[in-house]
Amino acid sequence: MKTNSSNSLLTVSTGPLKISELPPNPVGTGDESIHLSLVIPTYKERENIKNVVNVLSQLLDESIAGKYELIVVDDDSPDRTWEIAQSLTTEYPQLRVMRRQQERGLSSAVIRGWQAATGIVLGVIDGDLQHPPEVLIQLLRSIEQGADLAVASRHVEGGGVSSWSVVRRFLSRGAQLLGLVILPGVLGRVSDPMSGYFMVRRSAIAGATLNPVGYKILLEVIGRGKVDQVAEVGYVFCERKQGESKVTWKQYIDYIHHLVRLRLSTGKLGRLRRKVNFPVGRFLRFGLVGFSGVFVDMAILYLLSDPTTLAWPLMPSKIIAGEIAILNNFFWNDAWTFADVSARQQGWKQRLKRFVKFNTICLVGLGLNLLVLYLIFNFLIPNRYIANFIAIAVATVWNFWINLKLSWRVTDVK
Ligand code: GDD
Ligand code: MN
Repeated sequence: MKTNSSNSLLTVSTGPLKISELPPNPVGTGDESIHLSLVIPTYKERENIKNVVNVLSQLLDESIAGKYELIVVDDDSPDRTWEIAQSLTTEYPQLRVMRRQQERGLSSAVIRGWQAATGIVLGVIDGDLQHPPEVLIQLLRSIEQGADLAVASRHVEGGGVSSWSVVRRFLSRGAQLLGLVILPGVLGRVSDPMSGYFMVRRSAIAGATLNPVGYKILLEVIGRGKVDQVAEVGYVFCERKQGESKVTWKQYIDYIHHLVRLRLSTGKLGRLRRKVNFPVGRFLRFGLVGFSGVFVDMAILYLLSDPTTLAWPLMPSKIIAGEIAILNNFFWNDAWTFADVSARQQGWKQRLKRFVKFNTICLVGLGLNLLVLYLIFNFLIPNRYIANFIAIAVATVWNFWINLKLSWRVTDVK
């Protein structure tokens, strides 16, 4: 067995998450070139890594010796998984290790690994032995038989989960169902879109800028790649023996965020959006912040003007309620909706400037709000909350439009 002469860690690419058409510094030519690059993303897998590398190497040496590489991509695990992996490279020359210190997250780890890959087939497998290694051979065969993408699936013949609770099964299927509703064109193509165990031809995803959130890299591959033929192989998702899963409730939020993002940026809708260039994400955030303002406004209005509380006159109460809601909204819009723009205009002076603009625009909006409230409450619907709700809606349209053009000046900022 030859030893690895360059015993150093792989460099992490920076910039867009894009895979090149041609492998970087292809190893050898023709038959010698590496066929499969299998990425093993890891985070705190020190108890598993040696075993995983050993099992995978044995298996692949039997079928495609010399034509594969294993790429461990570790996110600077505090248990120093990367160090252990690196120490294995003398024994396993086909093993390469990347230690990421700037970026985080499962999906981007996989893509950074593929960016360093020399293979024409790119794969991914978990580093905790929950994905049965034998399935690799079947996946590889499917690709050789012409598939662009071969997915290990829990939901086809031979697949399953070992001992999941009813709740967990339900959540998993619920997530899939939600995905089918939001993105049928992507999730409808495979039986297990949540799978993190698959292989894809480099040519199917080369050139596309991937933009994943969270855990579900496969969605991104299908959504943005040019995947023609798909194959599926059943597998049983085993229980973890060592270490623990990194899945938290945040992954559910990320997943929904990812679905919406893919929905908006691919297919017909994506093409339309690129043409119109409307900042949908920003608009949604602005709307959500405005929505939080409604509660602030309503609560203060209640405290000040309701006959059962302070029973102040409606108009002055509304002015105070409105101004407090404006403060609330500015805070969230500056910190979240327009965070990217604010980051480029730092310092309290700049922030004050933005606040003054925002407040002025919103005060005009509040004037509009008052006018509409007055008219509706006195002449149309004698319910202060319904009247206020309609008034707020009218003012919101005004606020978004003018703030978009003036306060953060989205269109002008480079
Ligand atoms: N580099 C890196 N960065 N690796 C990570 C990160 C991260 O932020 N988070 C998790 N990993 C690694 C883990 O060390 C493990 O090797 C693999 O990614 C999967 O993480 P787990 O936390 O074990 O996930 P799981 O077992 O719940 O989920 C698995 O099954 C799902 C099937 O529904 C994963 O394979 C998912 O990808 C898959 O979708
Ligand atoms: Mn796992």
